[in-house]
Amino acid sequence: MKTVLVSGSGGQLGECIRDLETNYPEINFIFADHSKLDITNSEKTNSFFGQNNIDWCINCAAYTNVDLAESEQQKAFEVNEKGAENLAIACNNNNIKLIHISTDFVFDGSKKVPYKETDITNPINVYGLSKLKGEQKISETLKEHYVIRTSWLYSEHRRNFMKTMLKLSETRSEISVVDDQIGSPTYAKDLADVVMYIIKNNIDDYGLYHFCNKGETSWYGFAKKIFELAGRNINVKPIPSTDFKTDAKRPSYSVMDTSKIENTLGFNIENWKTSLTKAISKLNE
Ligand SMILES: NC(=O)c1ccc[n+]([C@@H]2O[C@H](COP(=O)([O-])OP(=O)(O)OC[C@H]3O[C@@H](n4cnc5c(N)ncnc54)[C@H](OP(=O)(O)O)[C@@H]3O)[C@@H](O)[C@H]2O)c1
Repeated sequence: MKTVLVSGSGGQLGECIRDLETNYPEINFIFADHSKLDITNSEKTNSFFGQNNIDWCINCAAYTNVDLAESEQQKAFEVNEKGAENLAIACNNNNIKLIHISTDFVFDGSKKVPYKETDITNPINVYGLSKLKGEQKISETLKEHYVIRTSWLYSEHRRNFMKTMLKLSETRSEISVVDDQIGSPTYAKDLADVVMYIIKNNIDDYGLYHFCNKGETSWYGFAKKIFELAGRNINVKPIPSTDFKTDAKRPSYSVMDTSKIENTLGFNIENWKTSLTKAISKLNE
């Protein structure tokens, strides 16, 4: 029986992996949330890994508040860079394979066609830089690793854009949403599925991959589709990013090319609209 540790299991992706637990009776899952395992504590992380006979670690732990990271730089790097390094060291010491999640925000958004894994990174905010440093620490420290970059995650769990929009539609008749940032909304359950597919099949094509749902849209297009699928009657007004001030800059284009993961793993990826339809009906259950 394989043992899989899910670090940061209390977050959105961690919860999506927990939802899949019953599909994998042959796997022994250890769900460790922030209170059970703090990945910034190198000693405790190493001893936790040493004590539990783990085969794979899925790291769902991260500092994910993109705007707050601008004023809490040290905290963001502590979790996203040092925490990632601590995990890679603990995996190396204990012969454990690591699947780590990174972000489209490692790119500056200057491209006009989807980013490949070989494209040059150039983060334009603290969060993106801290995540990039984490990727680098992992690839320098541990051979048996996957770093999977994803984008615009949403699901029925925790706080995310889909849930925020639906909540706002309960009290508002109009909402303004940015239409000049283009990306690929990604259902966190689809990401959880591909992670579990790698583990179940013991795939050893380690390295860096891009995973997001197919197709692209703006936050405005994403919001419109959420309201349409949820049957909410609300007027959505497109606005430029300059009219919606945030502490962190965001790339204007961060669509990722997923052909490497599709070709290497033979994994089919859904269009974002198909996955959003599933997420909304799950939310309505
Ligand atoms: N959400 C997105 O749109 C998005 C987009 C691209 C990439 N990603 C990446 O996808 C991954 C999963 O994101 P998500 O949406 O599931 O994030 P999330 O919901 O914010 O979950 C992150 C989890 O990490 C935990 N955590 C924070 N610091 C920790 C520490 N020092 N030790 C252990 N756990 C810690 C948090 O616990 P507390 O809340 O208790 O601190 C939280 O449960 C992350 O690597 C993120 O960078 C996310």
